[in-house]
Amino acid sequence: MRFRTCLLGGAALAILGACGAYALTLRSSMAAITPPSQASFDKVTVEKGAILAAIADCTVCHTAPGGEPFAGGLPLKTPFGTLYSTNITPEETTGVGSWSLEAFKRAMREGVDRQGDYLYPAFPYTHYNHVADDDLAALYAFLMTRRPVKATPPPNDLIPPLGFRPLLAGWNLLFLDEAPFAPAEDQSAEWNRGAYLVEGLGHCGLCHTPLNLAGAEKTSKTFAGGVAEGWTAPPLDASNPNAARWSVDRLTAYLRSGLDAEHGVAAGPMGPVTHGLSTVPEGEVRAIAVYITSKMETGESAQQHGESLPAAKPLDNAEEAAATHQAGAAIFAGACAGCHGTGAPMSSDGRPSLALTTDLAADDPRNTIQTILQGIPELAGQKRPLMPSFAGVFSDRDVAEVTAYLRVRFTDQPAWPNLHDAVVEARNEGEKP
Ligand code: HEC
Ligand code: HEC
Ligand code: HEC
Repeated sequence: MRFRTCLLGGAALAILGACGAYALTLRSSMAAITPPSQASFDKVTVEKGAILAAIADCTVCHTAPGGEPFAGGLPLKTPFGTLYSTNITPEETTGVGSWSLEAFKRAMREGVDRQGDYLYPAFPYTHYNHVADDDLAALYAFLMTRRPVKATPPPNDLIPPLGFRPLLAGWNLLFLDEAPFAPAEDQSAEWNRGAYLVEGLGHCGLCHTPLNLAGAEKTSKTFAGGVAEGWTAPPLDASNPNAARWSVDRLTAYLRSGLDAEHGVAAGPMGPVTHGLSTVPEGEVRAIAVYITSKMETGESAQQHGESLPAAKPLDNAEEAAATHQAGAAIFAGACAGCHGTGAPMSSDGRPSLALTTDLAADDPRNTIQTILQGIPELAGQKRPLMPSFAGVFSDRDVAEVTAYLRVRFTDQPAWPNLHDAVVEARNEGEKP
């Protein structure tokens, strides 16, 4: 009897506890407002918001392929299922037209929408929470002066029980760092500006830092390199294989143009980042570069920073590679040499030799394979190099053969193992859901 009472009491307590925990996760709904008139925002603030939005890539995630800017619906594939970005145009019923500045700030800082529901951290509020009040107000002014579009994204498709948003309260408790941005006193104003932009709006760490099993950045490994959409985002700390070759000037130019003669092109998900930064005043991008190069410095490489190291000498083992990798050499001669071969017009244009790209020297072949499969697509309004996509042209075996050939011909690194499997995997990962 006593045992049963205990058991019942225990069960009741557990239920109460669960209800209490659930109640703690409930957030209030904020009153809907009538969309403010566009004229109520001053032009200077809106322009400032446009620059901040470009640094933060808002349009990259909130625009579906071929869709209206900011109207949402872009699928984001995560290990937990597919999420769709929302409509952030100032449309009253399907967008954020009825959101007050306070509701917008809460979403950006705490990841909670106007109605009080938790948002998934695929929306980088874990970074945006470091953004200052007046910058959030400028972003709000920018969004509220876009063209309202009526559009509702498809429903999310997440593995159960992750569709249940209150669970995110626990995630936030564990992983959301609510401390405001604190400038470092022993650093220059430019470095601190860079730190503010990188850690906040730029959310560079979301891709360049490894994630834990819950999808949160490993704070002990900031900038140690990560994975994004089937691509490797190389480390931005001293472990970057070409760290010593990145100077502030080079990095600024790469971030604004998407190209650097000694590192290669910003392909894959880095393309849109440089596309956004190409519209941002140079001083802001330079501040980002000052901060990032400081992260890449080690005691040793600091002195040589920005100098061309002996390793930067172009390698070209054409004969040896052709002898050992005949199938790959034939594919290269037929499909690639017109652009990448010795003496091709492209190579005389101050362009990176394939021997210098970070991707070919990397420990894993992912980015080389993705570049071959996806090519380097055009980005509206940015003059940058183009390469055709070969996904539909080559079999997995062809891609593996030419990748193996590139590694031998242009680097002195050991061969990549299991290339065929890596190609199959890259096709699956890079595929848009
Ligand atoms: C990496 C992709 C990504 C970027 C970059 C991004 N967002 Fe989002 N955002 C999302 C996703 C995904 C959601 C929906 C999350 C959900 O359903 O829980 C979202 C939701 C939102 C919401 C909540 C809207 C609603 O109706 O609930 C707001 C507001 C928002 N984003 C604003 C912005 C702004 C402003 C920027 C740029 C400063 C930005 N986002 C950049 C992916 C992104
Ligand atoms: C959406 C994911 C994503 C975001 C956000 C992102 N990057 Fe990248 N980044 C990548 C990927 C992927 C590559 C590899 C591109 C390639 O192989 O051409 C890359 C490459 C780079 C490189 C070249 C490294 C090398 O040695 O070749 C630099 C530098 C860089 N990113 C800096 C930044 C900075 C600074 C930011 C923030 C302003 C940023 N990235 C934001 C995904 C991202
Ligand atoms: C129409 C010209 C063209 C053709 C054909 C072409 N590429 Fe490219 N490729 C480019 C351009 C442009 C770049 C960017 C670097 C630059 O501008 O020098 C590039 C870059 C690359 C990179 C480096 C990516 C990085 O992160 O820096 C690899 C690897 C590559 N190509 C492999 C190939 C292979 C393999 C083939 C043949 C199957 C091929 N390319 C065919 C134009 C071409």
